[in-house]
Amino acid sequence: MAKRFTVTTALPYANGPLHLGHVAGVYIPADIYVKYLKAKGEDVVFIGGTDEHGVPISIKAKNEGVTPKEVVNRYHNIIKQSLKGLGVSLDYFGQTSSKGHYETSSEWFTKLSDDGVFREEVSQQYYDEENNQFLADRYITGDCPECKKEGAYGDQCEKCGATLNATDLINPKSALSGNKPVLRDTKHWFLPLDKFEPWLKEWIEEMKPVLKANVYGQVKSWLDSGLHQRAITRDLDWGVPVPVKGGEGKVLYVWFDAPIGYVSFTKQLLEKDPNRNWEDYWKKDGDSQLVHFLGKDNIVFHSVIFPSMLKSMGDYILPQNVPANEFLNLEGEKFSTSKNWAVWLDDFLTDFPDKTDVLRYVLCSILPEQKDADFTWADFQAKNNNELVANLGNFVNRALVLTTKYWGGVVPGRNELTDLDKDVIVQLNAFPNKISASIEKHRYKEALSELMKLSALGNKYLAETEPWKLIKQDEERVKTIMNIALQITSSLAVLSVPFLPETANNLSEMINLEGLKWDALTEDNITEGHQINKPSLLFQRIDNEVVDEQRAKLSQAKDAAEAASKIVEPQKDTTSFDEFQKMDIRVGTIIEAEKIKKAKKLLKLKVDTGIDQRTVVSGIAQFFEPEKLIGQQVSILVNLSPRKMLGIESEGMILMAENNKGELQFVAPQGGSDNGGVIA
Ligand code: MF3
Ligand code: ZN
Repeated sequence: MAKRFTVTTALPYANGPLHLGHVAGVYIPADIYVKYLKAKGEDVVFIGGTDEHGVPISIKAKNEGVTPKEVVNRYHNIIKQSLKGLGVSLDYFGQTSSKGHYETSSEWFTKLSDDGVFREEVSQQYYDEENNQFLADRYITGDCPECKKEGAYGDQCEKCGATLNATDLINPKSALSGNKPVLRDTKHWFLPLDKFEPWLKEWIEEMKPVLKANVYGQVKSWLDSGLHQRAITRDLDWGVPVPVKGGEGKVLYVWFDAPIGYVSFTKQLLEKDPNRNWEDYWKKDGDSQLVHFLGKDNIVFHSVIFPSMLKSMGDYILPQNVPANEFLNLEGEKFSTSKNWAVWLDDFLTDFPDKTDVLRYVLCSILPEQKDADFTWADFQAKNNNELVANLGNFVNRALVLTTKYWGGVVPGRNELTDLDKDVIVQLNAFPNKISASIEKHRYKEALSELMKLSALGNKYLAETEPWKLIKQDEERVKTIMNIALQITSSLAVLSVPFLPETANNLSEMINLEGLKWDALTEDNITEGHQINKPSLLFQRIDNEVVDEQRAKLSQAKDAAEAASKIVEPQKDTTSFDEFQKMDIRVGTIIEAEKIKKAKKLLKLKVDTGIDQRTVVSGIAQFFEPEKLIGQQVSILVNLSPRKMLGIESEGMILMAENNKGELQFVAPQGGSDNGGVIA
C-alpha cells in the first residue's frame, strides 16, 4: 500500500446546480472510497471544487448582466452546500477563480513554457472589429455547411449535430455585434500530445490491470487513432492570463487550468497545517496514490492530457487509477439542463431532508459502473421499502428491540454454540475483507450488495432460530442467539460507514458503541453486560403519493422548459395564403367534458361547432377541471382529418395559447360569438 492517498473529484462547471447524474458519476463512488480509506486509518486528502472558467460561463454572465465572478460564486456555494447536505466529506472544495489557483496554474504554464514543452503557432481566427476582440467559437453563428440551417455555432451545429470549424460557417456573424467578423492572425500555445504518444501507450498498458474496462477501452481507442497537438490558450478575457511574453489579452484554456486545481486546492488545504505538506501528496518522494473520480466525458483529460502535464512537470506522480463511470439517465431519458429534465441535488435535499442515506443507497445500488444506468422514482421507492426498510432496518430493529425487551438493553453472553451459530460467525467474519476487496477494485455496487448480504444473513438467522418463540422455554439459548445478532449489528454499524454515514452514526448511537475499527471486527465487537440505548427505526416507508408528486414535478418542469424554448425558437417556415385558406377554423362551444382513464393529459370533449356536435380529444387535462369547461367558447379546426387517440375518434382540434410556463389558455372570440362563425 502507498503511504498516503490523493483523491480527486472532477470539478463541475459553476454555472448550474448539481443533478443526480453528477452525484452518481463522481461523488458517491469517491466518497465511499475515501470514507473507507479513512475508516482503515489511511492518510488521505479528498479534493474537489468548481471549474469556473470557460466560454459558457462568460456567456451566462453576459446574458444576466453580471460579472462571471458573481455567477461562479453563486453556483459554487449552491454546489458546496448540497454536497455537504449529502454527507460527502471532501477535505477541501475550492474555486478555480481563486488567487491561489491563478498563482499555481501560472507557475505551471511558465515552467512548462520555459522548459520548451509547448509549441507556439500563429493561425487565423475570427475577430469582431466593433468590439475589438477575437471571437470564441460559441460567439460566432452562421448557416451550417452541412444541413444549411441557420443558427449553427462556430464549433457545432445543434440542428444536425455536425462538428464544425468556425471558418466553415456560411454567412458568419459575431454574436456580440451582429457584424460579419474578419480573420486576423493570432498566436497560441499548444501541448504536443503527439510527442507524448509513445510513453502514454506504454503507461496505459502498465495500468491496464487496474483500469476499469470502460476506461481502458476509451483511452486505447484514442491512442490508436493518433494524438494531435492541442491549443491550451484562448483569446478571451475570463480565465487565467497567459503569464509569458506575447500572452497579453489571452488566457489559459479552461481544460488546461482546471485539473491544476487539484494541486492548488491541496496547497490551499494544507497551507496552515503544521503536520502535513502538500508536496507529499503530489510529488514522487511523497509516495502518494493519486486517484481521479470522474464521468466518462472526462476520461481523455485525466488519462492523456493531465498525465502529460504531470509528467512534463518532472517530479509529480501520475494517477494510479481513473475509475470513470458511464452516465446515469433519468426515467429513461438523458439528464438535460436545457430541457430541465433533472433531479437537482439541492431540490432533493429540500424535499427529503431526512433521506440523504436513501439517496446514497439508491444511487450506489445503480451506479453506472460499466454501462449507463437509469434512475426512476419507482425504483427509489422500491429500494427504500424493500431493501432499506425490509432488510437492513428490519434486522437491526429486531436485534435491538428484543434485547431491550428481554434484558432491558443489557447485552447477554453466549452459551454453547450450535453448528448454525458457528457457521453464521464464520460468515460474519468474512464480510470486512469481502467489502474491502470490492471497494479497492472500485466495484461499489458489489460492495454495497455485500453489506446488504450481511443484514440478510442476520434476518435469516433470526427467522431460523425464532428467539421470540424460544424465550419462554429456553432463555439461555436466546441469549446466545441475540448475542450473535448484536455482533452482526455492530459490524453493520462499522461496515455501513462509507455507504450510509448517517445510518452508521444512528446505529452506533443506538448500540452505544464508538471506536470499533474496520480491521478489528470479530464476533466479539460488543461484550456481555454492555448497555445499549433505546432503539428507533432507521428507515421509514415511502408512500406512492410522495413519488407521484416527484414525477409530476419532473414533467411540469420539462413542459415549462419546452414552452420557454418554443417562445425563443425561430418562427416556422413561410406558408402561402392558399395553404392557410385550407384551414376551416370555427367558433364552437364545449357542451360535454370528461376525463379519460389512463391518460393524465387528455380530456374527451363534445363541441357544438354550429355545423354539428363532435367529439374532440384535447391535451388540456392538467389545466382545466372538466365540469368548469361546459359553456366555454373555443376556436376549433373542423376540417382536420379524424385521428384515433386511446380508442376515441377525435374530429378536430381546439386552438390553445401556451405561455412560457407551459400553461394553456383558450383562444376564443372576445365577448362571445355565434357557433359556426368562421375564423380567418
Ligand atoms: N468542468 C469539467 C466538466 O464538467 C470537468 C473538469 S475536471 C478537471 O466536464 F479535471 F478539469 F478538473
Ligand atoms: Zn447542421
